[in-house]
Amino acid sequence: MTATDNPETADVLVVGSGIAGCSAALAAARAGAEVLLLTKAERPDDASTDWAQGGISTTRGDPAALADDIIAASDDTADPDAVDVLVETADEAVEDVLIDTLGIEFDETAAGELDYTREAAHSERRILHVDAATGTHILRPFLNHVDDHERIEVRQDTAALELITHEGRVHGVVSDEKATGTPIYAGTTILATGGIGALYGQSTNPDDATGDGIAMAALAGADVADLEFVQFHPTAYAGKEPFLLSEALRGEGALLRNAHGERFMPDYHPDAELGPRDVVARAVETEREATGEVVLDVSPLEFGDEFPGIAQKCRDRGIDGNEIPVAPCEHFLCGGVAVDDRGRTSLDRLYAVGECARTGVHGANRLASTSLLEGLVWGLRAGEDAAGAEPEVVEAPDLRNRDPDLPERFAAEKFARLQRTMDEFLGLERDPGELARAGAVLRRLKGEVDAYIRTRTARDLYELRNACVVALLIARAAGENPESVGCHSVVEDEPAPEQTAND
Ligand code: SIN
Repeated sequence: MTATDNPETADVLVVGSGIAGCSAALAAARAGAEVLLLTKAERPDDASTDWAQGGISTTRGDPAALADDIIAASDDTADPDAVDVLVETADEAVEDVLIDTLGIEFDETAAGELDYTREAAHSERRILHVDAATGTHILRPFLNHVDDHERIEVRQDTAALELITHEGRVHGVVSDEKATGTPIYAGTTILATGGIGALYGQSTNPDDATGDGIAMAALAGADVADLEFVQFHPTAYAGKEPFLLSEALRGEGALLRNAHGERFMPDYHPDAELGPRDVVARAVETEREATGEVVLDVSPLEFGDEFPGIAQKCRDRGIDGNEIPVAPCEHFLCGGVAVDDRGRTSLDRLYAVGECARTGVHGANRLASTSLLEGLVWGLRAGEDAAGAEPEVVEAPDLRNRDPDLPERFAAEKFARLQRTMDEFLGLERDPGELARAGAVLRRLKGEVDAYIRTRTARDLYELRNACVVALLIARAAGENPESVGCHSVVEDEPAPEQTAND
């Protein structure tokens, strides 16, 4: 451990630059704090927020109805108190930050009214959107706004490697600005590092969604929860370079068909294509296995006019017709660092918001278009609560970079092994008999990575370490939950038929 002579300090340190991080930074600055927002992102599209398509849910004046839909989609596992916080604050947060502060022009109808769309498991049209590229249209003005704010400094291309902790309190992070790590001390630290898409072979997240905040918090001793609930989106493009085909397409009438051209969802759920996401994802996979292919039939829509951005992506992949091959793809982690209604973790002065946090709003399966909303609401609440603490300088972890050269392709090869393990054992369905095997592979992998971390600070190595930590936590949570619920679907392999003397 080392202490520095002239250490860098901030009142509030935010790690991550998606909607949750920007909201936290804004609220802390509004409360009078000097904020440093650290992000490993170099471009807006390094954050999952920029990839969000469908939109952001509002209550449209009926919080109870949105709460009912969230709880039903979660298989009745969402925390009703957390859901109440979300729905009671949603419309005010959208109005204040997105409309009044950032001036986002959500799509309107021909009559000049806000054009609310619908997505699966929503009982009514209540989702604000801009085309189906809502995340981009929110994040870019938000980044400009926080960047221009006099009390917020944004530092890009800078990763947090470790939390600085002392006697159960978090005092900031060690960043990778210097090869041996740079301590940054803060009164409070807010993790907003996003999801875990990089743990899987295919995901709808950017490549750098490596679970950093969850891993750093867990390694520092923070409580985590609900990590077995990894949500797979039912409709990603099934070819090379998958991309999301927003649930808003089904909300507006697109249908799912198997390789025989049959519409199959009515056999799986009374709401058919608008059933909860976990149910639709498993049905799509079942039909793909049984018939060879599933397509999203967009012929009921004016596809090119209603969804120009997605239609262009299809044309870029050479799809000109109305049938787009789809497959489920890792999309969102419902669990994360356990937090309360202000984003406070179990460690003093550490907060977590956005996808890296577990607020209880999503339970075992998240309702569409509640992730941007949760990031916005909890970001604002955490940022406001976090202002007011003084930074204290304590000894920081002493990182070593004695042997900086990694064997070529080390991190990439280990990442590929990690992804194969997650795809095979911790995908849409989990076989309890196999989870112990997955845990053993992941433990070995983490051991190899830890050996390198002792003498190197390369960012990709730390990302790999973080991914291994979160993968192990997911495997452990999945192994400890024998019950199929929401995104966690437990299946037992058929036992092999017994051999007889005549075989
Ligand atoms: C989508 O557009 O289908 C994704 C929306 C979400 O995950 O909330």
